[in-house]
Amino acid sequence: MTTYSDSDVKELVRERYGKLAQSATVSNAAADCCATDDCCGDSERSTPNRLYAVDQIQGLPSEALIASAGCGNPTAIGDLNAGETVVDFGSGGGIDCFIAAKAVGEQGKVIGIDMTPDMINLARGNAANLDMPNVEFHLAEMENTPIDGASVDVIISNCVINLAPDKDAVFREAHRILKPGGRMFISDMILTAPLPAHATDDAENWVACLSGAEPQEIYLGRMRQAGLQDIEIVGDKPWEGKEEWASRVHSMNIKAHKR
Ligand SMILES: C[S@@+](CC[C@H](N)C(=O)[O-])C[C@H]1O[C@@H](n2cnc3c(N)ncnc32)[C@H](O)[C@@H]1O
Repeated sequence: MTTYSDSDVKELVRERYGKLAQSATVSNAAADCCATDDCCGDSERSTPNRLYAVDQIQGLPSEALIASAGCGNPTAIGDLNAGETVVDFGSGGGIDCFIAAKAVGEQGKVIGIDMTPDMINLARGNAANLDMPNVEFHLAEMENTPIDGASVDVIISNCVINLAPDKDAVFREAHRILKPGGRMFISDMILTAPLPAHATDDAENWVACLSGAEPQEIYLGRMRQAGLQDIEIVGDKPWEGKEEWASRVHSMNIKAHKR
């Protein structure tokens, strides 16, 4: 149970990730980045360096790297083929979109969806810097996208679905926009057992991708209910928090198909 309404949660999330988007631009401008030592040393521990292979993130703008807030590497879960259309649910600064865009090539297309205006602005700026015409970003909620039905080959999503108060709506939308035979590659925070109420009823834990995380059987059940099939957990890494309930939180990679 939580005292936060669905709209409270969305507002908290927009505020937090809007600030991250703004700080990605400011910190990069201030440091102009990594001309020397400390800043680059620091980046060894940053999210992109933990999650991605060096060749995946080489050449990406530092604003995209600084804003990276994922818990996995969804483009590494399965193959992306040249010419395919990929949608990223909760694209943030665009890091996974840019990696996907290299994989699908100029004949393919990548569409990032995010509900936070500052993240969309940041991602569009990053795409312009990269001169990647096959990537576009839309300000929208992943529960209700502007994308045509049965038009998408692959949906990726990195640490976002946990933030949605209505996860059934997310998986229904995913099923709607996927072509028959389409795939879904998700990295997300998933629980092995429910968290105590004092942990979930906490604004910080909501925006930190913890309060909205659900036990594995519930999460996978929602995917199945929406019509997704061949659902498989293909990666599972315990979260490294210090709280007494931390061992229940895992970062998992999940793949599924629409038949
Ligand atoms: C934890 S960040 C992850 C961003 C990105 N996937 C990455 O790996 O860097 C979560 C992002 O999801 C977006 N988001 C959260 N709920 C959303 C929703 N219902 N619809 C669209 N975007 C959402 C937030 O605005 C934020 O940019």
